[in-house]
Amino acid sequence: MAAPSRIMVVLFLICTASLGFSEPTPDEDPTPTPWPHQFHSILVMNYSGILQIIDLWYDWTNGRNFNIIQHQLGNVLYDLEWNNGTSFFYTLDSSKQCSSAQLEVGILRPNWLDGANYLGQKQVDGFLCNVWEKVEFIWYYEDVVTKRPVHWVFYTGREAHVMTFEVGAALEDIKWQAPVYCFDNSSAAIAVDDSISTRIPLLKGSTVL
Ligand SMILES: *[C@@H]1O[C@H](CO)[C@@H](O)[C@H](O)[C@H]1NC(C)=O
Ligand SMILES: *[C@@H]1O[C@H](CO)[C@@H](O)[C@H](O)[C@H]1NC(C)=O
Ligand SMILES: *[C@@H]1O[C@H](CO)[C@@H](O)[C@H](O)[C@H]1NC(C)=O
Repeated sequence: MAAPSRIMVVLFLICTASLGFSEPTPDEDPTPTPWPHQFHSILVMNYSGILQIIDLWYDWTNGRNFNIIQHQLGNVLYDLEWNNGTSFFYTLDSSKQCSSAQLEVGILRPNWLDGANYLGQKQVDGFLCNVWEKVEFIWYYEDVVTKRPVHWVFYTGREAHVMTFEVGAALEDIKWQAPVYCFDNSSAAIAVDDSISTRIPLLKGSTVL
C-alpha cells in the first residue's frame, strides 16, 4: 500500500507547489500600461461642449510630442512640444499665427502614470476599463482586455475619447518643422490657454507628472 500513498504525497506536493506559483494576488491593484515610445492616436475632445479632434503623435524616442487640433468648423492649430521645454503653437493657413513658449517641463514620460491611484473598474464609451486617478489632475481609463487607453479627463473637465491607437506609428521628420514665421517677428501671436495647449494643464501638475 506504499505506492498509492506516495502518489498522494506527490499529488499533494504538486498541488501546493502550483498553488504557490499561480496564487492570485487580489491585494495587488492593476497598474496602468506605460505608453509605447511611439504611437499615433486620434482623439475626440470635449471641453465643456467645445469639440475638437486631435491628431496626437507621441514620439518619446525623438523627444517630441505633437497635437494637431481641428476645431469644429474652425481652424487647425499645431501644438508642437519638444522635450527641452520649447513649445510652438501655430497655424499653417494664411493667418500665419505663431507663438512659442519655454516651459520648465518636458513631454510626458512613457511611465508618467506611475504611482496613480487605482479606483476600480468602470464602463466608459462602451468599454470595460480599469480607472486610475493621478494627483486629482487626471482620471485615466484603460481597456481591461486590450490595455489600450480609452478615455481620460483632466481636472479642468477637458475630456479625451481615444478613437485610434496605432502603436509604433511615427510622423515623418519634415512635419515636425515649425514654419519660418515662428522664427522672425512677422507672425501674429496666438492666445494660448488650457483649451488648446495640452502641456499647459500638465505644467500645473509638473511637480508630480
Ligand atoms: C460634451 O460635454 C458636455 C458636458 O461638459 C456634455 O453635456 C455634452 O453632451 C458632451 N458632448 C458630446 C458630443 O459628447
Ligand atoms: C528645443 O529643441 C527645438 C527643436 O530642436 C529647437 O527648435 C529649440 O530651439 C530648442 N530649445 C531650446 C531652449 O534649446
Ligand atoms: C524682432 O524684434 C526684436 C525687438 O522687438 C528685435 O530686437 C529683433 O532684431 C527682431 N528680429 C527680427 C528677425 O526682425
